Amino acid sequence: MLRRLHKDQPASFAFTEKNLEWAKGQISKYPEGRQASAIIPLLWRAQEQEGWLTRPAIEYVAQMLGMAYIRALEVATFYFMFQLQPVGTVAHIQVCGTTSCMICGAEELIAVCKELIAPSAHQVSADGKFSWEEVECMGACSNAPMAQIGKDYYEDLTADKLRDLIARFGKGEVPVPGPQNGRYASEPLGGLTSLKDFESGKTQYNGSAQIAVDVGDTVKRIDGTEVPITTPWVQA
Ligand code: FES
Repeated sequence: MLRRLHKDQPASFAFTEKNLEWAKGQISKYPEGRQASAIIPLLWRAQEQEGWLTRPAIEYVAQMLGMAYIRALEVATFYFMFQLQPVGTVAHIQVCGTTSCMICGAEELIAVCKELIAPSAHQVSADGKFSWEEVECMGACSNAPMAQIGKDYYEDLTADKLRDLIARFGKGEVPVPGPQNGRYASEPLGGLTSLKDFESGKTQYNGSAQIAVDVGDTVKRIDGTEVPITTPWVQA
């Protein structure tokens, strides 16, 4: 797939004060002369701030890291996680279309996106709130079919569940991510059949869902807010 910068670009980009402070912290992790190593986290934070990665943002980050613009552009156009065109203001939905998800109903999820958002991938919906694309395996195959919405995984989906999620996001709600069929993680739907001792001391949701719930904003974390670590296995 040919990845080009979008034809319409904003005039400028600058990190917010908090993001600038965060970016300087990232850069300081690397030895003198190796600041370019911070390119991916900085581009990623720029994308979080704007929703998508603009040309001025790539130029800004390149300048900050003392890199030639073409080197930063090479990184931005290589990785599909960087959105080079505007996305929905509420959420960009990435539906996994690889084998496990495909045989468990990904095509029905894509049909919902086409119907409710836009007929083609990377098009923004008429109300500007949503956009979608099909992506390759995101490593949650045992909870297929799934989609990443904003920054979080929504798993064990059906067409109706995805419809409901889009409606709730559209109303300003932030549904709890993770399995949408009552599973805690990827155990059998009927509950654990072995290693039952591990059922004690669980948080209400699994690790990633719990963090999203604690932060209270699963869609965009654009103000430099650090994710509080509250789950015991992450702290260890
Ligand atoms: S096949 Fe969809 S997450 Fe792996």
